[in-house]
Amino acid sequence: MSIQSDIKRLTAPDIRARKGGEPIVSLTSYHAHTAAIADRYCDFILVGDSLGMVMHGLETTVPVTLDMMILQGLAVMRGSRRALVVVDMPFGSYETSKEQAFTSAARVMKETGCGAIKLEGGSRMAETIRFLVDRGVPVMAHVGLTPQSINALGSFRAQGRDVADWAPIVADAHAVAEAGAFAVVLEAIAEPLAAQISKDVPIPTIGIGASAACDGQILVLEDMLGLSPRVPKFVKRYTELGPSIDKAVADYAAEVKSRAFPGPAHTYPLKTKST
Ligand code: KIV
Repeated sequence: MSIQSDIKRLTAPDIRARKGGEPIVSLTSYHAHTAAIADRYCDFILVGDSLGMVMHGLETTVPVTLDMMILQGLAVMRGSRRALVVVDMPFGSYETSKEQAFTSAARVMKETGCGAIKLEGGSRMAETIRFLVDRGVPVMAHVGLTPQSINALGSFRAQGRDVADWAPIVADAHAVAEAGAFAVVLEAIAEPLAAQISKDVPIPTIGIGASAACDGQILVLEDMLGLSPRVPKFVKRYTELGPSIDKAVADYAAEVKSRAFPGPAHTYPLKTKST
């Protein structure tokens, strides 16, 4: 008897094959319940290390650990059935050597069952990407603004707004594609630069604050739902869940204080002989 699911999950090669085709839809998710919703619309779901800021209230992604990524990666795998699940490699889990990167990536893949990992960095990570891909680890790369380097960059500002700064970003995108990455996230870069990279590089570009010129788009789910207190300028909020949750909690608190909660409809009546 086969124990494989009837629903076939998308794979890294499926995403790779979408270059220049129908735009690729993706969101981050860190929970089973939001993953189940995202799964209905997204080609891939990213378990981003942004969970450090979004779920844990950290200032940056730097303190995020491999254990945190694995725990949330498992939840997203349980909640989703169709989308490719990509798990971020956190800061410090892959930069020392290509062997360290393989050990960390293999742990993430074995313990979560995800279909790919993502890591930050362009030319400097090319050798590592090649090593991982050659050993069966599908890699999504991430260039432009790389938040794990916040302490070296000094701020989360957009990259490549001056044409003089384009060359290293273009070189990064080419280097990760040549190394075998199946897609590359372009974060917070100017539109003409994103357009040039998307035209020239043979793998799908996934934009976040990088214009509609990319082959696909990604947003942090909590940012587009209006749940994050501070969001980058490029984020479009599709709803405002923060105020809705605030109102629900305030109404509940007021009802508890006035003893209006729980009313009869939410109370178990005493069992009588006839019931
Ligand atoms: O961690 C994350 O959520 C990301 C996206 C912003 C691409 O890397």
